[in-house]
Amino acid sequence: MTRAPPATRRPIRRLDAATVERIAAGEVVERPASVVKELVENALDAGASTVSVRIEEGGLARIEVADDGQGIPETELPLAVERHATSKLDPAGPVDRIESLGFRGEALAAIGSVSRLRIVSRTPDREEASSLTVEGGTVGRRAPAGRSIGTTVEVRDLFFNTPARRKFLRSAAAEQVEVVATIERLYLARPDVTYRVRGAERELAVYPAATSLRDAATRVLGPSLLRESFEVEGEIPGGRLAGTLGRPATAASSSRGLHFSVNGRTVASRPLTQAVRAAFGDYLPRSRFPVGVIAFEFASDRIDVNVHPTKREVRFVRERDLAERVRVLVRESLLSAPAVAEVVGSSTLPPTSRGRAAFPASRARDRPAPTPVGRQRSLSTPPDAPESRLVPAEGPHPKLELIGCVGAIYWVAESEDGMVLIDQHAASERVVYEALRRNGALSRQTLMSPVLLPLSGAQRAALQAHGSAVRAAGFDVDEFGPDTYRIRSVPAYRGRMARPEALGELLTELAEGGRPTIPDGLQERTAASIACHAAIRAGDLVERETFARVLEALHQLPEASYSCPHGRPIQVRLPRSRIDRWFLRSGT
Ligand SMILES: Nc1ncnc2c1ncn2[C@@H]1O[C@H](COP(=O)(O)OP(=O)(O)OP(=O)(O)O)[C@@H](O)[C@H]1O
Ligand SMILES: [Mg+2]
Repeated sequence: MTRAPPATRRPIRRLDAATVERIAAGEVVERPASVVKELVENALDAGASTVSVRIEEGGLARIEVADDGQGIPETELPLAVERHATSKLDPAGPVDRIESLGFRGEALAAIGSVSRLRIVSRTPDREEASSLTVEGGTVGRRAPAGRSIGTTVEVRDLFFNTPARRKFLRSAAAEQVEVVATIERLYLARPDVTYRVRGAERELAVYPAATSLRDAATRVLGPSLLRESFEVEGEIPGGRLAGTLGRPATAASSSRGLHFSVNGRTVASRPLTQAVRAAFGDYLPRSRFPVGVIAFEFASDRIDVNVHPTKREVRFVRERDLAERVRVLVRESLLSAPAVAEVVGSSTLPPTSRGRAAFPASRARDRPAPTPVGRQRSLSTPPDAPESRLVPAEGPHPKLELIGCVGAIYWVAESEDGMVLIDQHAASERVVYEALRRNGALSRQTLMSPVLLPLSGAQRAALQAHGSAVRAAGFDVDEFGPDTYRIRSVPAYRGRMARPEALGELLTELAEGGRPTIPDGLQERTAASIACHAAIRAGDLVERETFARVLEALHQLPEASYSCPHGRPIQVRLPRSRIDRWFLRSGT
């Protein structure tokens, strides 16, 4: 298919400066949030300790960013809005060692070419401030103005002269959400500064300067993250990292709740996101992502920030080694963090943090990250106790006395302070999984008489590819005839419930997962698949003694034993006090 050539052809001509400017602006200024990002970064580069952001109509009508930084000398104001003019690169120094957030000398020029911009700034050596305006790229005159030391940049009518771009923007509410999200990212990268965000009528959020990244993370990701988080810290090639991550139960449905900063700059990095996710392995359900923040500090020659027009992405020297190191560090921290339990009780946790309540309702839809903790837990809240919330609690495993089983799925047990409900599949799955991880294989039971099982082509292929994993799971299999295999032993964990057919199901899942097993150990996902299939199932009729053994094994696990390898909770505690309240027995 060919398109007809245009009827008339114009000769090639150089674009005029204003058009070049506007096209270039499109790379830096995509939407109100990107303006806010540039202006706040300028404030941070100027050494501000407080940055105040005001937005009207999601920033489409007006954005104002005021700081208490060092200001711009009056005579340099026209240069500040000129393209390729910057105070941040040392002409004598190397271009690839950038310590400041800005370095291109482009942001203000770009913003000024697609809006009505006004800068008011005062340096410490002056008694009064000066202002300068730019309208759609046309620079106005300097004029005296009043303000304290620092800089205020006001941006009105964004994209007034590029209507096509304006059409791509979302609603004011959605843009406002994005602006707040942008400030949150900046705060997590530079938590030593106070940020205020105001809408036309009211304060939207305040992020006070924090003394630790953990405090800042708590403010942004919610106090429940703090209660169910672990720290990660360590050396990486060329630098150090430190961060706070949520345990698997806090995982979100997108990767937006996972933040990275590199030398105080907020960055997105797919390899790092994948590394963190891989570290959680099968502790995370399939479509969930970890939440938290990790700050990296590198020598500036180890990274290249100049790879993206908005500097959202950086390139690392030896990125693969870095990602692998990150995975190992996160994995180690996750496994060595103290275990946390899910408990039903009268919680002191507010459902949302105070800052959060001020956000527009659309936030929850647009930004899944901060809320899933509450959302996910409420799934496990008994429906007849809508007011109760599950809260995490630290502590040793309670001694349990098994009472009985409900519906061949849940076990009821008595504990010292009330009762506990246990999911038989999740509990057994965790025990099997940990045993696999520890020993590399499960104990097996030999069948009195071998069982013949037909296998499909895909299952046979999976058996070839994952033979050692299948043996580790406790199955002894050999070929018996065309398409038929003989099973001599099955996993021992299910007691009398072991079904040779479970092998077929396991092979099907391994075939679909498609990952090869690595020779010197079981891959996490394979281990979780094996655990799932070797474990007691929901609906299996299990004898009390069998399940008591599972429970005992569960309680001997040092860590992470409150959720199954897929991240579902294993048990829910109901304290006596809670039950008393249901029956209106107060004060007992
Ligand atoms: N809030 C501010 N306080 C002090 N100086 C500022 C402020 N904003 C801008 N400037 C000055 O104006 C110059 C131009 O700013 P601009 O954001 O356009 O470019 P840059 O920050 O140097 O580089 P980049 O385009 O990468 O952001 C800066 O180099 C800085 O000297
Ligand atoms: Mg800048």
